[in-house]
Amino acid sequence: MKALILAGGYATRLRPLSCTRPKLLFPIAGRPMLEWIIENLAKEGVDEIILAVNYMADLLRKHFKSRFNGIRIRYSIDPTPLGTGGPIKQAQGLLGGKGTFLAMNGDILSEAPIKSMLKAHRETGAIVTIALHKVEDPSRFGVAKMANRKRIEAFIEKPRKSDARSSWINAGIYIMEPRVFNYIDAGRKVSVEREVFPILAKREKLYGFKYYGPWFDIGKFEDYMNANHKFLARISGRTPMVGNGTKVRRSTQLIPPVVINRKVEIGDDCVIGPYVAIDDHVEIERGSRIARSILFQESKIGELSSIDSSIVGEHVVTGRNVKLRGGTIVSDYVSVRDNITLGPRVIICPYKEVDQSILKPMSVK
Ligand code: GDD
Ligand code: MG
Repeated sequence: MKALILAGGYATRLRPLSCTRPKLLFPIAGRPMLEWIIENLAKEGVDEIILAVNYMADLLRKHFKSRFNGIRIRYSIDPTPLGTGGPIKQAQGLLGGKGTFLAMNGDILSEAPIKSMLKAHRETGAIVTIALHKVEDPSRFGVAKMANRKRIEAFIEKPRKSDARSSWINAGIYIMEPRVFNYIDAGRKVSVEREVFPILAKREKLYGFKYYGPWFDIGKFEDYMNANHKFLARISGRTPMVGNGTKVRRSTQLIPPVVINRKVEIGDDCVIGPYVAIDDHVEIERGSRIARSILFQESKIGELSSIDSSIVGEHVVTGRNVKLRGGTIVSDYVSVRDNITLGPRVIICPYKEVDQSILKPMSVK
């Protein structure tokens, strides 16, 4: 089966880190988010992925090329942003006119059982079957009002809290019949949630598949950190994971879950973890303490520093005795001088040189 992944949103709530990389390349427990998505799709019988993108496609191409882990990857570029429906129509040629296909939002991580979903889809005669996930507050999502256990009677995108009469929301994973192309105009921005699903619901061609497993919607930094924690716990529950070529001094303590990628160097007397993900080529000097944080590749952390609940972008350089506290985000290529404290919740934009401590939440542009 072919799968179309919608990957063209601007990820505005992950700025400034999303200014320089698409959301699908954000590392989660040491691997770009899209690798986790591909892994699940491959397990579930998908053999070809079409990435619908509208910016920074080159970065995705550089990483995934035209084949990744045995799966063929193709790229469909929006000429102008086409929303969530337009890219499906635009990829009609690549998806082929005959087979049932999968479409999904590119900002969710799940273990959705696509094979079971496909089986359920075939039993109902639906044009679209949507994976549904149960949440407390459905108002940030698309909400499915059920006619019975399976059929969706009405689909309401982002209702007001008082209007959300169901806690089953659109999990952003769809099985679609090629007939869906007839419901999407070509060449313009179309929202499947607002313009297509409501019509299919009226025609009794929209069905739901209730999914009870793990589901992460990566919208804001909190979601991103949370997903990273959960994936770390899953793959490195009790044992630290250390990649090839990484050197950790014997006096340094690793507290799992912790994932350290390739060619990282960690000096003496550091304490790393729990809930830490460190990407390739990072250097951490002696006596530093890192917990609940994500370090992107090639960052350098000076000695006697302490980083807690923060994100450090690519090629960041920090001096000695630097402290990053709760919710701080230091973007790519920033340098931070010795003895500086940042946080809680300080956001530093790319290429800044930080020479003063900032102890209150603020954004430095
Ligand atoms: N190619 C392309 N072009 N992709 C796009 C565009 C575009 O113009 N606009 C958005 N996308 C992609 C985004 O990258 C994302 O992966 C997906 O489409 C959904 O868009 P979001 O902007 O993230 O929508 P949302 O999070 O507000 O709501 C959607 O997801 C919820 C679940 O997380 C809706 O589908 C809701 O109904 C759903 O509950
Ligand atoms: Mg989203």
